Amino acid sequence: MKAVVDPYRHSVRPEDLDLAASLLAASKRPAALTGAGMSAESGLATFRGTHSSLWSRWEPEELATPRAYREDKELVWGWYMWRMGAVARAQPNAGHKALAVMSRRWPYFAIVTQNVDNLHERAGSTRITHLHGGLFEHRCFACARPHPEFVVPADAADGPQLRLAPPRCLHCGGYIRPGVVWFGEQMPEEPWNQATAWLRECDLLLVIGTSAMVQPAASLVGFARQHGAKVVLVNPEDTGHSSLADVHLKAGAAEALPLLLDRLDRS
Ligand code: APR
Repeated sequence: MKAVVDPYRHSVRPEDLDLAASLLAASKRPAALTGAGMSAESGLATFRGTHSSLWSRWEPEELATPRAYREDKELVWGWYMWRMGAVARAQPNAGHKALAVMSRRWPYFAIVTQNVDNLHERAGSTRITHLHGGLFEHRCFACARPHPEFVVPADAADGPQLRLAPPRCLHCGGYIRPGVVWFGEQMPEEPWNQATAWLRECDLLLVIGTSAMVQPAASLVGFARQHGAKVVLVNPEDTGHSSLADVHLKAGAAEALPLLLDRLDRS
């Protein structure tokens, strides 16, 4: 029986773990910037990087733009219901839980996430801002009024290509869209202002599970460094942020973050 190789299990170098733990031990105001890789070990597809990632299977322009929604709202809504169902079935992984422990240990601890899932919240983290919106924050495509959240059954759409008619707005009868930031849309101001306020003050930034491919989110790492933060990268791969990192834990979040906490507790 061939051993199943865990794609995320990389051996974190002890010297990297020691350095990362010493930086965290010295930190008064740690924060985290997370991306899709944070939720990979919860079974949620990332956008880039592997054959099974979302943008390797569909073009963003086909699904994650206002034009795509105008042209085929059932296809777009069906795809997002499939993604909402996947999040409903997923559980926070050990990486989310480790960040929730940090949220309790440092009252300042803040999470700036590019993710639209709710796994940081479900793990118990508190100070969180979603730069790209939230899968479950529905609103009307026509009048932009919020639409009540509804329970998404785990088998909401048994395949990503199932066309589903979006619900209608209770105020104007328009069609409901997911509350995520689509390509070509402006990022909402409030999360960005919150993110820059937190990262201007933080003295250590954990950069977890992001390919550094999407601006302006990716620029927040350089921004935090400019304001004096140390940077710990948590990613099995090198990224555009590698040159900004004081230390790189080359492993999955669900392996590296509990190891980091454990090393911290032993120091
Ligand atoms: N732990 C940590 N990192 C991981 C793991 C893991 N288990 N698995 C994969 N990764 C890394 C990959 O190496 C990659 O660098 O996570 C990163 C995922 O990159 P993307 O899929 O590009 O996700 P992200 O950086 O969050 O994308 C940014 O792009 O499509 C838009 O709006 C979408 O918010 C998203 C934005």
